[in-house]
Amino acid sequence: MWAEKYRPRLLNDLKNQKEIVEQLKRFVKTKSMPHCLFAGPPGTGKTTAALCLAHELFGERYMDAYMELNASDARGIDVVRTTVKEFARISTISKVPFKLLVLDEADNMTSDAQHALRRTMERYTETCRFILSCNYSGKIIEPIQSRCALFRFSPISKDDISSYLGEIAKNEEITLGPNALEAIVSFSEGDMRRAINALQSASSLGKKIDEKSVYKIIGKVTHEDIKEILALTLKNEFIEARNKLRTVLIEYGISGQEIIKELHSEIFRIELPEKKRVKIAEAIGEVDFRLAQGADEEVQLSSLLAQIASEDMQK
Ligand SMILES: Nc1ncnc2c1ncn2[C@@H]1O[C@H](COP(=O)(O)OP(=O)(O)OP(=O)(O)O)[C@@H](O)[C@H]1O
Ligand SMILES: [Mg+2]
Repeated sequence: MWAEKYRPRLLNDLKNQKEIVEQLKRFVKTKSMPHCLFAGPPGTGKTTAALCLAHELFGERYMDAYMELNASDARGIDVVRTTVKEFARISTISKVPFKLLVLDEADNMTSDAQHALRRTMERYTETCRFILSCNYSGKIIEPIQSRCALFRFSPISKDDISSYLGEIAKNEEITLGPNALEAIVSFSEGDMRRAINALQSASSLGKKIDEKSVYKIIGKVTHEDIKEILALTLKNEFIEARNKLRTVLIEYGISGQEIIKELHSEIFRIELPEKKRVKIAEAIGEVDFRLAQGADEEVQLSSLLAQIASEDMQK
């Protein structure tokens, strides 16, 4: 997995989270830190920052002093409690007087479990520092929040994602068309993991990644394809239009709903007599409804194209 392969090892290599990195570096320098709460959307570097911190605090053998637990799969607070007890009991040989325990998805814990966690945190505070990682800090109970330093991870900027993907592509000897990169970046919505995974999937289709291969893997249809289908239909070249539709549906694996959505946007983008636009919009609405009810995608979309191409629509 490239997302793993390209996980930064050092705090300085983390993209986008400058202020957080500066503060964590201070923890390393002073070999002291409070309990922390890392909050922010997925794929923005919370787990990575914790790993980098552990690496820089404890050195190569950081795994002796570092542990990651998932709060939601750790079968309740009891597991956390016993694990922490075991973990904190054995002191480290490093110069750092504490161990580091990362609790992922802490916001999935019930408030009872969080209260129990709070007591555990207090009990072992001498020997163990906690980093709680969550998407929403608001779901963490107040007594825990007040005991932790809060770090807010922001979505990764487009520029940072773009340059990171560029580096990965270079390293993997992939060429990225300009629109391809843009398509992945906009699809990622600030989530670096999502961006890297999309790049990797697209690369499985070939070393040269263009906009089409990206849309193919993210299940989106290109603007060009939609324009072509609509233009053919409006020119009454129904068979051609239908062939193109089949390619998009079957070969690219784009969902019928996605195609409908794009067709709908497209009819408001192109030049059309207002009356015709209204009729087409109506037909699209009807097919959208049928698809939502579970009707066959190809049949419904073909019938939509037939309606748009029909004489009635031309009036
Ligand atoms: N700030 C970043 N700089 C560089 N790469 C990053 C950054 N954030 C995330 N990544 C990439 O995304 C992958 C996932 O990141 P990470 O596990 O840190 O996300 P997370 O914030 O913990 O997400 P989740 O909320 O899903 O646990 C990393 O392996 C790395 O490749
Ligand atoms: Mg994580």
